[in-house]
Amino acid sequence: MAQLLAEPTGTAFLHDDASWWRQAVVYQIYPRSFADANGDGTGDLAGICARVDYLAGLGIDAVWLSPFYPSALADGGYDVADYRDVDPRIGTLDDFDALVAALHARGIRVIVDIVPNHTSNLHAWFQEALAAGRGSAARERYIFRDGTGPDGSLPPTDWVSMFGGPAWERVPDGQWYLHNFAVEQPDLNWANPEVRADFVTTLRFWADRGVDGFRIDVAHMLTKDLSEPLPSTAQLALIPKDGNHPLVDRDDVQEVYAEWREVFNSYDPPRTAVAEAWVNPARVPLYASPTSLGQAFNFDLLLADFDAGQFRDIITASLDLAARSGSSSTWVLSNHDVVRHATRYALSSPRTGGQHPDATPASAASAWLRSRGADPALDRERGERRARAATLLMLGLPGSAYLYQGEELGLHEVAEIPDEQRQDPTFFRTGGAEIGRDGCRVPLPWTPGGTSFGFGPGGAHLPQPAWFTDHAVALEDRDPDSTLSLYRRALALRHALRADERLTWIETGREDVLRFARPGGWEVVTNFGTQDYPLEPTADVVVSSSEFTGTLAGESTVWIAPEGPS
Ligand code: GLC
Repeated sequence: MAQLLAEPTGTAFLHDDASWWRQAVVYQIYPRSFADANGDGTGDLAGICARVDYLAGLGIDAVWLSPFYPSALADGGYDVADYRDVDPRIGTLDDFDALVAALHARGIRVIVDIVPNHTSNLHAWFQEALAAGRGSAARERYIFRDGTGPDGSLPPTDWVSMFGGPAWERVPDGQWYLHNFAVEQPDLNWANPEVRADFVTTLRFWADRGVDGFRIDVAHMLTKDLSEPLPSTAQLALIPKDGNHPLVDRDDVQEVYAEWREVFNSYDPPRTAVAEAWVNPARVPLYASPTSLGQAFNFDLLLADFDAGQFRDIITASLDLAARSGSSSTWVLSNHDVVRHATRYALSSPRTGGQHPDATPASAASAWLRSRGADPALDRERGERRARAATLLMLGLPGSAYLYQGEELGLHEVAEIPDEQRQDPTFFRTGGAEIGRDGCRVPLPWTPGGTSFGFGPGGAHLPQPAWFTDHAVALEDRDPDSTLSLYRRALALRHALRADERLTWIETGREDVLRFARPGGWEVVTNFGTQDYPLEPTADVVVSSSEFTGTLAGESTVWIAPEGPS
C-alpha cells in the first residue's frame, strides 16, 4: 500500500513500496477530454497539471493516462505514431515531466498506456514499409501478404477487423497488410526481434522518466501463428483458445512479458503492469502472474447486470482467480470503451444473454448502445442511484479499483452526438450501425456554465449536453450529497479496509441483498432489490450511497464501521 510521508519541507513523497498496486485506486484520465489549458478544444497535459489538487482531493493512489502520444486520432490516440513523444496538441515531454512531478509530489503514481499490437499507419516504420516494397526488411516489421484470386486482388483471408469491415488493406503495389483494428492501425509482427527490442526501449524510456506502471493494450493479441495456409474465419472459430490459437491468447505471448518483467524488476520499486486481456477466465492468471505482467483487468463486473447473484458469483470467482496467480483482483465499472455505468443501469430491462468471451470493450459498448436504442425510456435517476450503490460496493472489495474520469460526477453516457461530430472508427466502419464510444469521451464539466463548462477557454472537441451543468465539479464540490462527495468519503475511508485482502460473505436471508465483512470488522451491505432491508440498530453506518434513515433503502450500499471499544 502506498504510504504518504511528510518531508521536512512540507511536500509529500511516495514511500518505495513494491506492492502499492495491490489495493490501489487508479483513476483513468482520457487526456483529450479531461481539461484543456491552451484552448484548442482538446485536453492537454497542462490541463491535467492544473487539476492535480482535484485528483489529490479525490483520494486516489494512481492516475492512468490513456495515450497522449503523437497520433492522427484515427482511434482516439490508440493509433500511435511515435511511442516516445507527446502529441503537440497535448503537450511536450517537459509538460509530461512536470505532470509526473506534480502528481508524485501529492503521493499519486503514474501509469501510462502501451499499445504494442499495432502502430499508427503514420509511424515511421509503416511509412518505411510502404516505401521499401515487398520482401523488404521494413515490411517484416508488420504483417504483409500477397492477395488471393488470379490477380491477388482479393484479401489473403476473410478475416474481419474488431471495428468491422475487412482486417486486410491493400497497398499501392498490390500487397495487403493485416489490421485487427482500424485501417490506420497496422498489426506489428511480434516474431521480429527488432519489434521486441523497440518496445523494451519504449518501456525503459517512460520508466526512466519516473512512470510507475503500464497498462498494456490488447495484451492477448501480440504474437500470431501466420504459417500458410491461413485459416478462414469459419476455421478459426473451431480452434480452441487454449494457448495455440493462431491469433489470440497464444502461450508464446508470455515470452514477451517474461522479458518485460525483467525490465520492470530492474527498477526500484519494480514497475507494475496491468493487462487488458480478453481471454477465457481460466487463462487470466497467466497474464496476472508475477513472472508476467503482474495484474490483469477483470471486466466481469462491467459486463454484469445490477444483480446480486451475478455480483456475488463474479466477486467470488475473481478473488479465487487472483489468488491463483498471486496477484490481486481488479475491478472496473466504466472506462473509455464502454457505456458509462450510470447509463447501463438506467435501462429498464437488464441485458440478457452472456457476453462472448472474445468481446472487446468496444463491442460491449455497442451492445449496450443498441439495447439503449431500443429502450428510449432511460430512468436516469435510477441509473445514478444504482451506479452509486455498485461503486460503493466495488470500493469495499479487496483488490484494486479502476475508476474512469467523470464517473465520480455521476455522469451518464452522452447519447446526443450528431453523426457528423462522431469520431470513433467503430461508427464509421459499421456504417453507423454501431454508435461507438464517443458518448463516454465527452470533455468533463468543471463549472455549471461558461465556455465548454470550464473544460477550457476554447470549446470542446465533442459536444457537451446541457445537462452537464448539473454535474459540474464546482457544484458537486459544495454538495455533501453529491456523487463526488460520496467518492471522496469512500476513498478516504477505504484505507482502513486495506489491512488485508480477505472477504467473508455474511448471509442476509435475502437473495437480492449482499453483505460481506472486511478486516477489522468493517462490513459492506448492498441492497440490489427495491424493498427496504432493515439493519440492526447498532450498525454504525459511516457512508451510504443514498440517504440513510436507519434502514437500507432499495438499490443502495452502506459501509458499517467496526464496533467501538465500548
Ligand atoms: C483497446 C483500447 C481501445 C482501442 C483498442 C485498439 O481495447 O482500450 O480503446 O480502440 O484497444 O487499440
